[in-house]
Amino acid sequence: MRVVFQETPEQVGVWAARTVARRILDYKPTARKPFVLGLPTGSSPLGMYKELIRLNKRGKISFANVVTFNMDEYVGLDPDHPQSYHRFMWDHFFGHIDIKKKNANILDGLASDLGKECLSYEKRIESYGGISLFVGGIGEDGHLAFNEPGSSLQSRTRIKTLTDDTRKVNARFFGGNFEKVPKLALTVGVGTIMAADEVMILVTGFNKARALQKTVEEGVNHMWTASVLQLHRHALIVADTAAANELKVGTYHYFRSVEAGHFDPDSILKG
Ligand code: GLP
Repeated sequence: MRVVFQETPEQVGVWAARTVARRILDYKPTARKPFVLGLPTGSSPLGMYKELIRLNKRGKISFANVVTFNMDEYVGLDPDHPQSYHRFMWDHFFGHIDIKKKNANILDGLASDLGKECLSYEKRIESYGGISLFVGGIGEDGHLAFNEPGSSLQSRTRIKTLTDDTRKVNARFFGGNFEKVPKLALTVGVGTIMAADEVMILVTGFNKARALQKTVEEGVNHMWTASVLQLHRHALIVADTAAANELKVGTYHYFRSVEAGHFDPDSILKG
């Protein structure tokens, strides 16, 4: 596992965006061989989307041959609902870049057969040969996508009941009204994320410090879903200084020293 520290959430966003751009450029995607990118919603990726939009508008990166799969969606919200993840993605990212609509996959939380929708999502991912890079955020309780504590670490896309904790945290997007937060969601599984060639998780803010500490310093445990990343061959965590607050000083310095000679994502702006 690589852990990269940046001072601020904005810097985390820029660093992450340039890493995504680098991967896409190196892959040299075509219509027949698109780059397959897994994407999250939430506040964590906002800076990354902003920078990717900027790079797209400057002609540094194109999404014309990129296929995306979002992590999750609430059950029962219309795609146009202001808090649906469909709406989030089109407002904050897809609506501002050159992605083809048919290439932006998001689970349908209104499907008449939700189980079938989950199964066909997995099949669609498979039909592209899997996901090259899955970008994600992390919940305060260490969840990845909507894989709440205790989720099977081998799970695949399915329906999940949201915990009261998650609904309380997400109530801020529903006018602070806990009752308005859906009780169910469709989510890719932990196994779906782990099957990606590379996973990059963005962690910002003091409220994520405990989850980061459990993920990086303690053992793999289904109660802290993200800790499973320790078993991934190419897991990358990008965190800000606030999120590092619960790590041992030694852990922080260790990962910083390991990173000293690593790839500089700013290179995306050169040449
Ligand atoms: C939600 C999403 C997760 C996201 C998490 C953190 O529960 N399902 O995918 O990572 O919230 O959100 P935020 O980035 O807003 O803190």
